[in-house]
Amino acid sequence: MGDEELLELLRKSRRNNALRGVTGLLLYRNQCFLQVLEGPESVVESLIKTIEADPRHHSIRTLCREVGPRQFGTWQMGFENLDVETDQVGKTSLMTQDFDPDYFGANPTTAQTLLLCFRGIADPAVVASLGS
Ligand SMILES: Cc1cc2nc3c(=O)[nH]c(=O)nc-3n(C[C@H](O)[C@H](O)[C@H](O)COP(=O)(O)O)c2cc1C
Repeated sequence: MGDEELLELLRKSRRNNALRGVTGLLLYRNQCFLQVLEGPESVVESLIKTIEADPRHHSIRTLCREVGPRQFGTWQMGFENLDVETDQVGKTSLMTQDFDPDYFGANPTTAQTLLLCFRGIADPAVVASLGS
């Protein structure tokens, strides 16, 4: 996806999510997305079906489902394009490597830790050790 397409996707997602009480984070890297969706179960399930049917991508995998407090409660859909070079402090190898869906599928907690790192609650040292 180009920058404009990503921005448009994000704009619409944030507008819809605000209306539906959905929060989360979307990461993009080498044509792969890693996303957290939080909200009432029925709303999230229905959104997953909508996203599954979206022709802009294929083969969704659900890495984990959890019941609990939101981790991204103030983010209508945070976003980071990891294809774009930044000087982010504490950037770890996991953030600079291409996303590997098979690896994340086998290591869902690593994916979770990476996502949480963007919210600033995961210890970057922990994430660094996960990536090595
Ligand atoms: C990777 C990916 C993530 C998406 N995330 C969201 C999202 O968080 N919220 C949302 O409403 N739509 C999201 N979409 C877009 C939906 O698939 C769909 O196009 C959109 O919800 C339709 O909105 P509309 O009915 O208002 O036109 C995402 C699409 C992709 C490809």
